[in-house]
Amino acid sequence: MSILPTNEEILERLREVIDPEIGLNIVDLGMVRDVVISGDSVRIAIALTVKGCPLATTIESDINRIVGGMREVSSVSIQMTSMSKEELNALGARLQEMRTKQKGLGKAAGMSAGIDKLDRKGIQKIVAVMSGKGGVGKSYVTAMLAIELRRQGYNVGILDADITGPSVAKIFGLSGKPMADENGVIPKETETGIKAISMNLLLDTPDTPVIWRGPIINGVIRQLFNDVNWGDLHFMLVDLPPGTGDAPLTVFQSLPVDAVVIVSTPQDLAMLIVRKSINMVRQMNVPLAGIVENMSYMKCPHCSERIEMFQDSGIEKTSAGLNVTFLGKLPFDPKINRLSDLGQLERYASPEIDEFTRKVKTELLKLTGVTAIPIAWKKASS
Ligand SMILES: Nc1ncnc2c1ncn2[C@@H]1O[C@H](COP(=O)(O)OP(=O)(O)OP(=O)(O)O)[C@@H](O)[C@H]1O
Ligand SMILES: [Mg+2]
Repeated sequence: MSILPTNEEILERLREVIDPEIGLNIVDLGMVRDVVISGDSVRIAIALTVKGCPLATTIESDINRIVGGMREVSSVSIQMTSMSKEELNALGARLQEMRTKQKGLGKAAGMSAGIDKLDRKGIQKIVAVMSGKGGVGKSYVTAMLAIELRRQGYNVGILDADITGPSVAKIFGLSGKPMADENGVIPKETETGIKAISMNLLLDTPDTPVIWRGPIINGVIRQLFNDVNWGDLHFMLVDLPPGTGDAPLTVFQSLPVDAVVIVSTPQDLAMLIVRKSINMVRQMNVPLAGIVENMSYMKCPHCSERIEMFQDSGIEKTSAGLNVTFLGKLPFDPKINRLSDLGQLERYASPEIDEFTRKVKTELLKLTGVTAIPIAWKKASS
């Protein structure tokens, strides 16, 4: 007659479950809180590194498969909780220690992934641009924010974290592989001197589709931040892919993000999709600068009269209800599309973009707790 496995045997098998993001097993990571055997059922409590982590389902199905397949086990129930701040700090320190001890382990095993925050080096403020759904103008907003800040004389960089659908290179007409020296990869520079890195600049053929899973995306984004020699920047803008998947998760966990700007359009039904983004940002304790509505209305190219194309989305009211700063409405302007296609968006300017940039800067100052623009923030001497 076979007997149920012991707690130790189950723990041993749980070492086969790898946290897809960190690349180490969940037992060594201290994620297994409890294993309780009752009758022929096993109850396992897991503490995730991030509440609501999208990769939790992978961990869950691996546990079900492995423990569910052990002798005499007829059911497995998994309870997911999340680690406290103290536990996360301890884990971060342990990972750091493991990396130092086993130098090169991560790279050799193809796991440059991690959850610890990277050092911001010479970058003073990092702003990530996200949206609940695709095609709302994140890349446009990211690019215009960078362009406007550069016009004001700041040193600006753009990290295109949309690994599978990069568009920053195209908007700025950048091509050719970036060079590297002993200090790292040298970012490309746009016409007006914005430093930029985008995945399609690094591929042999820029139109190759990138089909990568979460852990790889995590590693690549960390490398684009860490292995690129960004130099001293006043602002880094991070262009995220749509939604709340692996890329935003990595950016929020790994980069010292100072503020997130959420882009929506008037069609975002009852802002349900926007709410999801807000919830992710809040869950991950990342400061939220506010929401901007893009393609809100049209400006007549002849007389600049405002033409309302949609019913009022009520975004001001909804933002207020959600306690999120409303950063303004940006008009639909066919010039934007044309200039982006030509790689010449730096030739575009509008009073609405000026105003939006001013608001983002104000929010950044509020979020980072400074009341006036400090010396280090002042315009780069030209
Ligand atoms: N205000 C605007 N007026 C006119 N065209 C715009 C405006 N904003 C964005 N566009 C155009 O809409 C298209 C989508 O914009 P963009 O690529 O910035 O969106 P996105 O949210 O980054 O998309 P994705 O989710 O695919 O990354 C582009 O062709 C862009 O030039
Ligand atoms: Mg985009």
